[in-house]
Amino acid sequence: MNKPAVLVARAIFPDVLQSLAQVFEVESNQADEVWSAAELSRHMQGKVGALTTGSERIDALLLQANPQLKMVANMAVGYNNFDVPAMTAAGVLASNTPDVLTETTADFGFALLMATARRITESEHFLRAGHWTKWSYDMFAGAEVHGATIGILGMGRIGQGIARRAAHGFGMNVIYHNRSRLSADLEAECKARYVTKEELLKTADHVMLVVPYSAESHHTIGAPELALMKPTATLVNIARGGIVDDAALAKALAAGQIAAAGLDVFEGEPKVHPELLKVSNVVLTPHIASSTVKTRRAMAQLAADNLVAYFTKGQALTPVNTLNGAAA
Ligand code: GLV
Repeated sequence: MNKPAVLVARAIFPDVLQSLAQVFEVESNQADEVWSAAELSRHMQGKVGALTTGSERIDALLLQANPQLKMVANMAVGYNNFDVPAMTAAGVLASNTPDVLTETTADFGFALLMATARRITESEHFLRAGHWTKWSYDMFAGAEVHGATIGILGMGRIGQGIARRAAHGFGMNVIYHNRSRLSADLEAECKARYVTKEELLKTADHVMLVVPYSAESHHTIGAPELALMKPTATLVNIARGGIVDDAALAKALAAGQIAAAGLDVFEGEPKVHPELLKVSNVVLTPHIASSTVKTRRAMAQLAADNLVAYFTKGQALTPVNTLNGAAA
């Protein structure tokens, strides 16, 4: 019997690819070429399944051109690159990679907060450029982290991981805002107090963004929200590009309206707003919050396991939509 054909749209760990090849006829993009939407759709021809990353968009146009497609496994917890209603309507199952990256991503959120508040990259650039000629009393004086107030916008699994680190590791006062309030038990475990978005922005010393991207969360932080923040406050975005209005943020940073920002995600990435590149009080990283060898392997494996489970057992491990009809 012919194996089902799947597309692995980006380079992944070779052994994960090999494990997929035992079950599927695999076309892979190990050269890691950047495909246009039309090229992705062309490579998808004849494939019943695909493994994608957050960079590949699965939308109505691609689905129309590929009526044979049955399932797409995203190697990411976020799946705003999927038009989920269109996939459900086309009978295409979608899956993501939750849980395996939670703690690693929370670690990175904290690393970015520390680097931002304590001006680590800015001071390193200064040193490398040969400007360090003497010690001075206020050199790169930053913002305190321990004991300060952290405001977490978006209190899902990763937000809770950050809250635990902040409360238990750094004695921080944790406030949060989320679409829904956590249970009393979880609030107690995270030592987190629920506040309105406005109170969070006005009172936090450090604002951490961990909300999923959707039309509703587009520009959650723009000029009006930045204006509410303390001039000494920092902002960290490990959520998604588009949650922050990057142009407004660059202006606020240049004007000293807030102290500093740490960004792992950008509007229109991998492009970065040119004004952000000009300001020194921002730490910029290329969407690497989940990037440890162990976690990226676990994500690739879970995406592959989702494909195998769906096509061999009719049920994915971590689906994000529900189909009415038969599975595979
Ligand atoms: C990364 O951004 C992810 O959603 O896993």
